[in-house]
Amino acid sequence: MRTQVIKPRIKEILSKELPPELVDLLPKRWVKIGDVLLLPLRKELEPYKYKIAEVYAQVIGAKAVLRKGHIKGETRKPDYEILYGSDTITVHIENGIKYKLDVAKIMFSPANVKERVRMAKVAKPHELVVDMFAGIGHLSLPIAVYGKAKVIAIEKDPYTFKFLVENIQLNKVEDRMMAYNMDNRDFPGENIADRILMGYVVRTHEFIPKALSIAKDEAIIHYHNTVPEKLMPKEPFETFLKIAKEHGYEAEKLNELKIKRYAPGVWHVVVDVRVYKK
Ligand SMILES: C[S@@+](CC[C@H](N)C(=O)[O-])C[C@H]1O[C@@H](n2cnc3c(N)ncnc32)[C@H](O)[C@@H]1O
Repeated sequence: MRTQVIKPRIKEILSKELPPELVDLLPKRWVKIGDVLLLPLRKELEPYKYKIAEVYAQVIGAKAVLRKGHIKGETRKPDYEILYGSDTITVHIENGIKYKLDVAKIMFSPANVKERVRMAKVAKPHELVVDMFAGIGHLSLPIAVYGKAKVIAIEKDPYTFKFLVENIQLNKVEDRMMAYNMDNRDFPGENIADRILMGYVVRTHEFIPKALSIAKDEAIIHYHNTVPEKLMPKEPFETFLKIAKEHGYEAEKLNELKIKRYAPGVWHVVVDVRVYKK
């Protein structure tokens, strides 16, 4: 998804449009999701941003270019500025999975690719998996497609949910993957899941009690959260264990992976936890 070398053709064209000192500031990295480009642009390039976007789109081959910004709020929405084109809906193919999304409005982090790929191998066909923060099926489509497990995918945001439903059809897993457009705290299923995905950050610990009520007496939880480096490796498992014990569960850490640097001194981490009812 990442390209590290600026194409000589881009420099060649833009050298004719930009003052020489700005040519060196042109982005050397970008992300392409389907045929939409995410371009990080320094503020010195602001007066030329539309021209720059047009040239990158034409040389790299993209129908729209967005200026990379931040992902914010409860539903983790990006605040990207559209610099070129208008149609930001695309189908991104990764690991053989088709992800349809609106790149301007739904997050799709290139840094999470390893985790999306890892999910293809974790589940078995007899399992029932509940994805509490499904998004467009980022993590649960690989489970349904490759693991052949049954999946319940819960997504709160109606616009994101629309793509989740489309992706279930695009990937032909309607027979085993079902989507609910609701806040996972209102999900009625109890004691049903062999495996739970908690692909969320910052406040994931608030959802542990709900995850435990959805889990069978013994289950695996893929627990994501953001953790200050100075609290690692004790956290985030220590908090998980404390909350699990308060709710009558034991918890065993099976595995822990760093997904990406989330902010200076803060990591997005995933811990695979086996929980047992005491
Ligand atoms: C950051 S995205 C992550 C998607 C995917 N789990 C991943 O890790 O790549 C989190 C998704 O959870 C949804 N979400 C946030 N709070 C929720 C809740 N209480 N119930 C259901 N969905 C929720 C958001 O709308 C968003 O689509």
